[in-house]
Amino acid sequence: MSSPPKFTDAELADLGLERGKLPRHIAIIMDGNGRWAQAQGLPRVEGHRRGVKTVRLTVEECARLGIGQLTLYCLSSENWKRPKPELDFLMSLLEQYVIEERTEIMRQDLQFCMIGRREGLSDGVLSEVQKTLDCSANNRGMRLCLAVNYGGRSELVDAVQTLAREAVAGTLDPADISEKHIADRLYTAGMEDPDLLIRTAGEMRISNFLLWQISYAELWVTQKFWPEFRQPELHEALKSFGGRDRRFGGLNA
Ligand code: IPE
Ligand code: IPE
Ligand code: MG
Repeated sequence: MSSPPKFTDAELADLGLERGKLPRHIAIIMDGNGRWAQAQGLPRVEGHRRGVKTVRLTVEECARLGIGQLTLYCLSSENWKRPKPELDFLMSLLEQYVIEERTEIMRQDLQFCMIGRREGLSDGVLSEVQKTLDCSANNRGMRLCLAVNYGGRSELVDAVQTLAREAVAGTLDPADISEKHIADRLYTAGMEDPDLLIRTAGEMRISNFLLWQISYAELWVTQKFWPEFRQPELHEALKSFGGRDRRFGGLNA
């Protein structure tokens, strides 16, 4: 079983896209599952179930586009405020996803990873995640990163604790702490920052996602709910990204 073919430059051009203008790392706040379900007269969890299909389609499309990394916000550290049955459902969906997607992850040569705190995740979820991490460890294609029990502030707290321990142990002089020292102690150590942050379902907020890493990400928000997000919306986001003048505080060329 071979991986789906990558888009050629001509195919990209047909989509209105240019390879050199694609983001290297896309991060997505996959929001609106509950509202989508409610609008269909379905229970909220049905929205989460349907959202998994969008995940599959989006992962495959990004891999075919040659995107380097796709980071998906699956569960925030704040989402624990939700009712237990919904959380249990989300956990079983995650476990099912990492089991069922193993074949696809291998077929598409994806480098799988997960960021966030492991506490609170069941042994079942953690062991299935570990199996997927292990079997995909030598893959070289797009990095697929799931943010689970992730919070940008708790990630910074964890990094600060690590730095403080190193300072106390005498292996790091506080005066030497640089941006790189911080970045290297985040869950995303070694990864590039997202260039493009997509949020579905219309909210204009970050919801504690990748606070450090998105300092210069381009933002793109669609009204579409996550279960109805499809390739045309992704392509629209990429077209918008390709047309942005990214000045990084400087002046345009
Ligand atoms: C996003 O959809 C999925 C998670 C946060 C787990 P929501 O469940 O937040 O859907 P809405 O925002 O209530 O519609
Ligand atoms: C953000 O969505 C978290 C995920 C998509 C996993 P939320 O639905 O939790 O965000 P808020 O509550 O609208 O900020
Ligand atoms: Mg939401």
